[in-house]
Amino acid sequence: MKICCIGAGYVGGPTMAMIAKQCPDIPVHVVDLNQERIDAWNSDHLPIYEPGLEEVVKEARGRNLTFSTRVDDAIQEADIIFISVNTPTKTFGIGAGRAANLEFIEKCARQIAKNASGHKIVVEKSTLPVRTAEAVKRILSSECSGATFDVLSNPEFLAEGTAIDDLLNPDRVLIGGESEAAIETLCSVYARWIPRDQILTTNLWSSELSKLTANAFLAQRVSSINAMSALCEATGADIDEVARAIGSDSRIGPKFLKASIGFGGSCFQKDILNLVYLCEHFGLHQVANYWEQVVVMNDYQKRRFSEDIVKTMFNTVSDKKIGIWGFAFKKDTNDTRESAAIYVCRDLLRERARLCIHDPRVPEKQIRQELMAACTDMSGHLTEKDRWLVENNVSIAKNCYEAADDAHAIAVLTEWDEFKTIDFERVHASMHRPSFLFDGRNLLDQATMDAFGFEMHAIGKSFNRKNSPNS
Ligand code: UDX
Ligand code: UDX
Repeated sequence: MKICCIGAGYVGGPTMAMIAKQCPDIPVHVVDLNQERIDAWNSDHLPIYEPGLEEVVKEARGRNLTFSTRVDDAIQEADIIFISVNTPTKTFGIGAGRAANLEFIEKCARQIAKNASGHKIVVEKSTLPVRTAEAVKRILSSECSGATFDVLSNPEFLAEGTAIDDLLNPDRVLIGGESEAAIETLCSVYARWIPRDQILTTNLWSSELSKLTANAFLAQRVSSINAMSALCEATGADIDEVARAIGSDSRIGPKFLKASIGFGGSCFQKDILNLVYLCEHFGLHQVANYWEQVVVMNDYQKRRFSEDIVKTMFNTVSDKKIGIWGFAFKKDTNDTRESAAIYVCRDLLRERARLCIHDPRVPEKQIRQELMAACTDMSGHLTEKDRWLVENNVSIAKNCYEAADDAHAIAVLTEWDEFKTIDFERVHASMHRPSFLFDGRNLLDQATMDAFGFEMHAIGKSFNRKNSPNS
C-alpha cells in the first residue's frame, strides 16, 4: 500500500508524519504546489512550529516519509490519496464572506482524475461543506480514464499546539463513506495505533457535517464564556470562578471555558460562516442566525478589549507606546491566521498608538503582512493612512522587556507559558506610571501583579467593583 497527501500545511504535514511514523512499511508522499514549503519540510527548519513535530518528522523522513512538488507522480503511485488543501472563505462572487472557496479541492480532484489509473481511494481531509463528496465523485468519474474511485470523508480534529498528542491519542477517528472495503482499508491504517472502538464509521454526509458541527460547538463555548465575561465585568463576578463552578458539572465539563480576547485560527470562523451559508442555502434562516451569533459575539469581544484599553488609558492612546506580548492565535504555534491579536492591534493603531510587538515564534514579516491585510477592505483597498500606521507605528521587539520598555501599557494577547516567568519587577521599573497591564488571556495572577505595582485589567474580572448593583 502507498499513501499520498496533497497539501503540506498545518493539517497535511503533521498528520502524514504521524501515519509514516506509525506505519514504517507504508511509503507516505506529501506533495504541495509551494516549492518553498516543501524545501522547508525537507530541511532542519520545518515550515510550522508544533511541539514534538520535529522528532516525528526526523524519525520517518528519508525512511518512508517524503516531501516533494511532484503531484502527478504521487497520484499515479498511491493507493490512498488524501486531499488536505486549504478551503478559505470566499472573498468574491456568490457567497463572498461566507461560503468556502472550493477552487483548490476541485483542481485537486481534476488532477487526480487526469493522472490516476487502476483503483484509488480518495480521502477528504480538508473541512468541507456537506455534500462536497458528491461533486468530487462526479469530477473523478468525468475523465473516462478507466480508473475507479472510492471517496471517503476523514476529517481531522487535531488542534494546533497539541497536534502531535492529538494525532497519537485522538478521542476518535471519523471515517465516512459508502464502500465497506474502502472504509476497512483506511481503518486498517489508523488501527496500527488507535483502538478499533475509537474509529467511528458513518455515511459520507454525517462525517462531513460532524466536522463543521464539532467546530461550531467548540467555538460556541468560547463565545458563551466570553459573553459571560462582559457580564462579570459589569457585576463584580469573576469569570474564572464562574468557569470553575459550571465546569465541575459533569454535563458541562471543564474544557474550552477559558475567557479570552476571542477565538482565532483558520477553522472556527471559516467553518461557522460556511455552516451559516449552508443553512441559508437550505432555507433554514433561524438556524443560520443562531450560529452566526457565535461569530458576532467573537467580533464584539475583540472590539471590546481594544475599546477598554483606550477608555482605561484616559480615553487616548495616541502617541503612547503599548507593548504587545504575543501575536499567534494561541500558544505553541506560529500560526497567526485570524488571530484576535491582529484585530486588537489594528484597532489600537487606528487610535494612533505606537505598538511594539513581541511573539516568541512569529516572524516580523508575517506580523506586518497580517496587519496590512487586516487594514485592507474586501475590494482590496488599503488607505494611505493605514499603510503609514503599519509601517511607522509598529516595531518588533526581540523579547518582552524590549516591548515593555518606556511603554504606557502592556497587552498580553497570546497565552505563551514563558510570559508567566518574566521578571515583572524589571518590566514595571522600565514603564511609565500608571503602568497598565491588560491581560487578554487571564494568564497572570492579579494579586502578584498588583504587588509589583501594575494596574492590571483582566477579562471577566471587574477592576472597579463600585459598579456592583449591591454596593
Ligand atoms: C487546511 C484547510 O484550511 C482546512 O479547512 C482543512 O480542515 C485542512 O486543510 P491547513 O493545513 O491548516 O488546513 O492549511 P494550509 O496550512 O494553508 O495548507 C494547505 C496547503 O495546500 C498549502 O501548503 C498549499 O500550498 C497547498 N495547496 C493548496 C496545494 O498543494 N494545491 C492546491 O491546489 C492548493
Ligand atoms: C480547532 C479545533 O479544536 C480542532 O478540533 C479542529 O480540528 C481545528 O480547529 P485550533 O483552531 O487549532 O483547533 O485550536 P483550538 O485549541 O480549538 O483554539 C481555537 C481558538 O479558541 C484559539 O484562538 C484559542 O485561544 C481559543 N480558545 C480556546 C479560547 O479562547 N478559550 C478556550 O477555552 C479554548
